[in-house]
Amino acid sequence: LANRPDGELPLKGLAVLVTAGPTQEPLDPVRFLTNHSTGKMGYALAEQARDLGAQVTLVSGPVALDAPYGVDVVDVTTARDMFDVVTSRFSDTEITVMAAAVGDFRPVEQAQDKIKKNGRSSIELELTSNPDILAWAGEHKRPDQTLCGFAMETRDLETNAAKKLNGKHCDMLVANNLRTPGAGFATDTNVVTMIRENREIELPIMSKEEVAGAILDEIFEIKR
Ligand code: CTP
Repeated sequence: LANRPDGELPLKGLAVLVTAGPTQEPLDPVRFLTNHSTGKMGYALAEQARDLGAQVTLVSGPVALDAPYGVDVVDVTTARDMFDVVTSRFSDTEITVMAAAVGDFRPVEQAQDKIKKNGRSSIELELTSNPDILAWAGEHKRPDQTLCGFAMETRDLETNAAKKLNGKHCDMLVANNLRTPGAGFATDTNVVTMIRENREIELPIMSKEEVAGAILDEIFEIKR
């Protein structure tokens, strides 16, 4: 896409929504549940989409990255915050890519005061499920909208990813195996397989920028 001979920007005028980063689920005023996501993959997608001419909204969990120029960044903390922003903007979006590592569960109760040890040797933590943002988008998607999700797995990559593709009604799923060297969180590279209904493309190890370009190429192909 980046090297189109006519010099035209292929995503010009299209609204692209990207989710990125981890979510944080508070336990008390000083503690939260989260994961190792750095947001790099989602930020690379937002920047590439911007460079290809799209109007980009980036819904980002807490990360240490600078806000990309020319991108509308909406900062969120919890999965429910992210759900609220995505559901309010989804209908105005042509392409949605969900790269965020959303916490599947949150503590049932958020203590107003710091939880004290009080001499206890163990405590129980009760968790409840968060809304599945990608599944919501899959249910509400119009035929003119393209939806891409991510799947991070530690085993049976293709089988699990294919299940998510169908279960969450996505047009494409980008799957990576956390156990593959150079893939996953906190690296500048990624090793992914792009899965569509009748097509599977295994990419070699690439920078996250290159992976973002390949994903947007494939999405452009779906939209055509
Ligand atoms: N996702 C989401 N909202 C959630 C959980 C996940 O939008 N509450 C999105 C992620 O952004 C990603 C995709 O769903 O695009 C895959 O998430 P993952 O957690 O791997 O899948 P799950 O359906 O939660 O399945 P499992 O935990 O069984 O692997």
